[in-house]
Amino acid sequence: VDDAVIRYAVGLACRAPSLHNSQPWRWIAHNSTVQLFLDPHQIARAADGSGRQAVLSCGVALDHLMVAMAASGCVAEVEVFPNPDNLDHLATVEFHPGQYVTDAQRDRADAILRRRTDRLPFAAPTGWADVEPVLRAGLGGAEVYLDVLTDAARPVLADASQLTESLRLYDSTYHTELDWWTHSFAAGEGIPDTSLISALESDRVAVGRLFPVSGHADRNPEVADDESRILVLSTDENTYSSALSCGLALSSVLLDATSAGLASCTLTHLTEHASSRGAIGGLTGRRAFPQVLVRVGVAPPLDLTAPATPRLRLQDVLEFR
Ligand SMILES: Cc1cc2nc3c(=O)[nH]c(=O)nc-3n(C[C@H](O)[C@H](O)[C@H](O)COP(=O)(O)O)c2cc1C
Repeated sequence: VDDAVIRYAVGLACRAPSLHNSQPWRWIAHNSTVQLFLDPHQIARAADGSGRQAVLSCGVALDHLMVAMAASGCVAEVEVFPNPDNLDHLATVEFHPGQYVTDAQRDRADAILRRRTDRLPFAAPTGWADVEPVLRAGLGGAEVYLDVLTDAARPVLADASQLTESLRLYDSTYHTELDWWTHSFAAGEGIPDTSLISALESDRVAVGRLFPVSGHADRNPEVADDESRILVLSTDENTYSSALSCGLALSSVLLDATSAGLASCTLTHLTEHASSRGAIGGLTGRRAFPQVLVRVGVAPPLDLTAPATPRLRLQDVLEFR
């Protein structure tokens, strides 16, 4: 497989979402093989002490890589955690030229570029009865549970969301870290002001991580309160392996939602505290570990949503050997 194809596909993989846009991945390419490593220096430790969310983010990037390579006509053979002595080595993927590329594969790769984390209040998703089975089918046989919460769950989640934030009120390490990742700097990481929402907009989203607010004019004012559908992805265990599997599943959910014309916002603040994880478990009725939540809905017109967030330069995360 040509190096240029690998460069293009890793570039698309790096459009994956990650906690605070920390991009905790490093790639090494050699012939037709790409290795994915967790970069421990990019873990946002105050929110993600164990690195669980960093591994999950890498799982999304790994799935994005395979989507991009499939759109380039390549088939993949994946080995996860190939080195038991180095758990930061998350995967090795060997690519072979395939027979053909379908339109569906091209569309999925296009969805990578259209997807973004949108923190605005959403109107209820349209055509949900058709969308939900697609999201479920995309998970394949992965050991990741998808629960779609009912509207009745929203007040419980809103309370859990508030509880999480109040537990953190005096956690200066957490707030210093959050400020650092949302500080407007030119380097290609962190969350820029253009991707944050104003105080008025934030007041209308009951279930969301509290970020510093931006000075935007009020967008989507006709949505008085967020009406998004809230999804939960859970796994039986809380291990690096289950976080990686969950990342693969999250990629699938986000790309399917984008393809269906829906906006999405990944949320994990509720999974960072045992008490709010308990509240989520109460809503899903599962004894599983809730890894991540996703708000899905209808966003305001594209000219009102945030531009794409920046990324680190490809040459800083991809090495050819
Ligand atoms: C594991 C993980 C956790 C995240 N947690 C949150 C969150 O709690 N709240 C939020 O608004 N965005 C969250 N995000 C979204 C990231 O902030 C976002 O992906 C990043 O800023 C890059 O922006 P983009 O997704 O628009 O490309 C999370 C993403 C991932 C993958």
